[in-house]
Amino acid sequence: PAQAAQGPTQPGLSTSRDGASISSTGQPVKNTASAPSAARLPTSGEQMHYIYAGQHIVIQESIEHFGAVVWPGALALSQYLESNQERFNLKDKKVLEIGAGTGLVSIVASILGAYVTATDLPEVLENLSFNISRNTHNMNTHKPEVRKLVWGEDLNEDFPSSTYHYDFILASDVVYHHTALDALLATMVHFCQPGTVLLWANKFRFSTDYEFLEQLYNIFDTSILAEFPESNVKLLKATVREN
Ligand SMILES: C[S@@+](CC[C@H](N)C(=O)[O-])C[C@H]1O[C@@H](n2cnc3c(N)ncnc32)[C@H](O)[C@@H]1O
Repeated sequence: PAQAAQGPTQPGLSTSRDGASISSTGQPVKNTASAPSAARLPTSGEQMHYIYAGQHIVIQESIEHFGAVVWPGALALSQYLESNQERFNLKDKKVLEIGAGTGLVSIVASILGAYVTATDLPEVLENLSFNISRNTHNMNTHKPEVRKLVWGEDLNEDFPSSTYHYDFILASDVVYHHTALDALLATMVHFCQPGTVLLWANKFRFSTDYEFLEQLYNIFDTSILAEFPESNVKLLKATVREN
């Protein structure tokens, strides 16, 4: 992806350092740096600690790409899913996350009982798989799946609509300065079938973010579910237009 002008990509300055303040328990969660498991991880980075849905989640960050750190949209969406379990009950639901990055949102969805497929670019999948497996392997939940999904590419071949129907599509901070916004929109359209709910959380920074939002309004029934002024994140729901 193209460089984002801003984003939590600089170690020590990242927005994910704010994770403690947004985490759900009201308790401060200590974010500690520690050495990665060198045997399994290709890069070094920090470990971030969160508590969502009563579970302690450890996220290994990396230093190499945009999917390598926890972005503010992921914190907002995780918090929202945890706090709105009656409105959006994920138990036994089929959930697809696009641009899953470090996997925090997918892990929270899994803890909440969903069948999760977490997807991203090929270079992100190793760290994503590592985080998902370390945080879900001894839980009594559906085993999450990790798959490559490049926006707009081979969707009909790899995820044909006749076979793949998701109850929820989750996406956090997938809109920023990159050249794949049309492909991202096409991906959302591909997966949003009747009955599917798209939950998209994003930090709004650029005019292109608002343009993407407008396109979403033009295509889907769209509403703002929550706003997080401290991080400038909006959380939206989109469903197939009924008419
Ligand atoms: C800003 S990061 C957000 C990561 C994560 N959702 C979060 O909120 O912490 C954007 C994510 O989109 C992924 N991404 C960017 N371009 C993509 C593309 N063309 N196809 C699939 N994923 C892409 C990146 O690899 C990265 O994981």
